[in-house]
Amino acid sequence: MSTLFAIIVAAGKGERLGSETPKQFLPLGNTTILDKSYDAISSLVSPENIYVILPNNYDYTGKISHTVTGGKTRQESVYKGLKALKGAKDDDIILIHDAARPFADYKDIQALLQTIKDDADAASLAAPVTDSLRKADGAVIDRDGLYALQTPQAFRFKTIMSAHEKYKNGNFTDDTSIVAENGGQIVLVPSSAPNFKITTPQDYKMAQALTSPITYRTGQGFDVHAFDNKGSATHVTLCGIKVPHDRKLKGHSDADVGLHAITDALLGATGAGDIGEHFPPSDDTFKNMDSAVFLEKAVTLVQEKNGIISNIDVTLICEAPKISAYKKAMQERIAQICGLNNDQVNVKATTTEKLGFTGRKEGIAAQASVLIGLMP
Ligand code: CTP
Ligand code: MG
Repeated sequence: MSTLFAIIVAAGKGERLGSETPKQFLPLGNTTILDKSYDAISSLVSPENIYVILPNNYDYTGKISHTVTGGKTRQESVYKGLKALKGAKDDDIILIHDAARPFADYKDIQALLQTIKDDADAASLAAPVTDSLRKADGAVIDRDGLYALQTPQAFRFKTIMSAHEKYKNGNFTDDTSIVAENGGQIVLVPSSAPNFKITTPQDYKMAQALTSPITYRTGQGFDVHAFDNKGSATHVTLCGIKVPHDRKLKGHSDADVGLHAITDALLGATGAGDIGEHFPPSDDTFKNMDSAVFLEKAVTLVQEKNGIISNIDVTLICEAPKISAYKKAMQERIAQICGLNNDQVNVKATTTEKLGFTGRKEGIAAQASVLIGLMP
């Protein structure tokens, strides 16, 4: 029976990512990049057989049983790890994994281990190259049959140790290449999941997006405008649509209660105060303003917070005018202003059974609810 060991190399400086803390120690979701890589390996290898290679003098307080100080190159770090393995026998299987690759998939690692048991000299998770390739000097490289090598990679102890001893002054960036140099046959095992190495700041952003949940926020808004007493008007503007009526609504802007309630709901969900703070009635710039401008501003504030609107629901409350014939046009106009599909917007109308100020036809009220998702 062979024993299964793992070496996780975490002794690099992460220069291409450029953070002060080496990238493997940066947070990722509710853990760190190194701990997530460790978890991927420890799902198949028992903790007492996992060796983590760390920078010189690095005070790491993670959940690791064996730590080893790394070297100047990745190759040197792996070699130091191989020399530190306690009780490894020739036929034991060694997994070597980059700490910077936290998304290695359980089933893929199982397939990799099976490949070594089936007698390959070395096996590596790999992904077919999908971009077209060209050298800076102009030479075009056919991508057909090309694979990008990933980790984990798997070996028998004897095979990997003898290759490392023989080429210890080289600078190979992966371990299957050292075995290949020593005459070994390499088998590639395609990974089924994204198993990218966090190398650049963009990679780190992508990793964070994959591990951080979207957070949801709701908001609600309410607004009232009174009717003017004079009965000679042509229409009121509600949810961006002109609805024929003989009395107009009083207000500084176009008095569109519907759009005001939605604007306030979005500002609420975003934590951005209320409509009066952004568009003070005392400011003459907003006199007779189309309220679409207010709503567009609220949508921009949502977007600046990396938010997306999930849905908008608005209720107009009045005895008159009758709203039902205009609800569809209102829905479409709100969707247009907010850059949404029509089915993300719902417009409702109700009376208050002749009760209260809306029942006495003294004005119109509106209330709105929204849900927004904030992306990590
Ligand atoms: N590594 C290591 N010892 C080294 C160099 C690298 O253990 N002397 C490890 C890294 O910590 C990483 C893995 O090898 O988990 C893959 O290397 P790479 O992505 O190149 O990481 P860094 O060398 O840290 O990054 P950079 O090359 O951008 O400095
Ligand atoms: Mg490196």
